[in-house]
Amino acid sequence: MDVVALVPAAGRGTRLGAGVPKALVPVLGESLLSRAVRGLRDSSSVRHVIVAAPAEHRDRMERELAGAGSGVHVVEGGAERTDSVRAALEASERIAPSAEAVLVHDAARAFTPPSVVRSVIAELADGASAVVPVLPVADTVKRVDENGTVLDTVDRSWLRAVQTPQGFSPDVLRAAYESVGEVATDDAGLVERSGWPVRTVEGHSHALKITTSFDLAIAETVLAPAWA
Ligand code: CTP
Ligand code: MG
Repeated sequence: MDVVALVPAAGRGTRLGAGVPKALVPVLGESLLSRAVRGLRDSSSVRHVIVAAPAEHRDRMERELAGAGSGVHVVEGGAERTDSVRAALEASERIAPSAEAVLVHDAARAFTPPSVVRSVIAELADGASAVVPVLPVADTVKRVDENGTVLDTVDRSWLRAVQTPQGFSPDVLRAAYESVGEVATDDAGLVERSGWPVRTVEGHSHALKITTSFDLAIAETVLAPAWA
């Protein structure tokens, strides 16, 4: 299967507060961006990678990825994650016109094992139009009112926490981006709203999104040493 991966990396990393965009933050000497792209390439199943970079850091990200292989391209992202994915998706029509599948993978999920990438692609190859990696929710989940008083306890057996890469057939993702104007926190959310079924595969604890300095500490002490 001819697969292109879009990597939104244009966020500011406000919650991490490292003073540089989160994707450029190093973990044991290698940036989150470089690690995320390496994980995609290590799956041996992704032909092109298109990174959406912050406008003012585009050159630096290009340099960062210079050794990542010939199929890696950097484009300018936008103000919201959706804008960045949209920019990379538009670029994919020029860079990877024959792609049969599109993955969207957060640079911030830099330690996602290549096996998760392969499972998402396998599900697409099996005929799915949209696929997300998920994990069961470990905590008990409650709904609260505006004062923080508990209303009820949600049956968590039906809940899943969603990760990336999310996989799509190109037509379905393009149609979802064309028809839905609003901002979504994930790409499958747009596809769901367009009425397409979204399948799930098993995610991985190492695919966590590096959001806070606590997550970065986990990355430095647990995830990076486990991967090399
Ligand atoms: N992202 C992007 N363009 C944006 C906003 C986010 O490409 N305008 C990317 C981020 O770089 C990240 C992914 O989307 O790889 C998930 O976003 P998040 O974890 O929220 O990263 P940031 O937006 O950078 O962090 P924060 O919300 O703390 O500022
Ligand atoms: Mg954000």
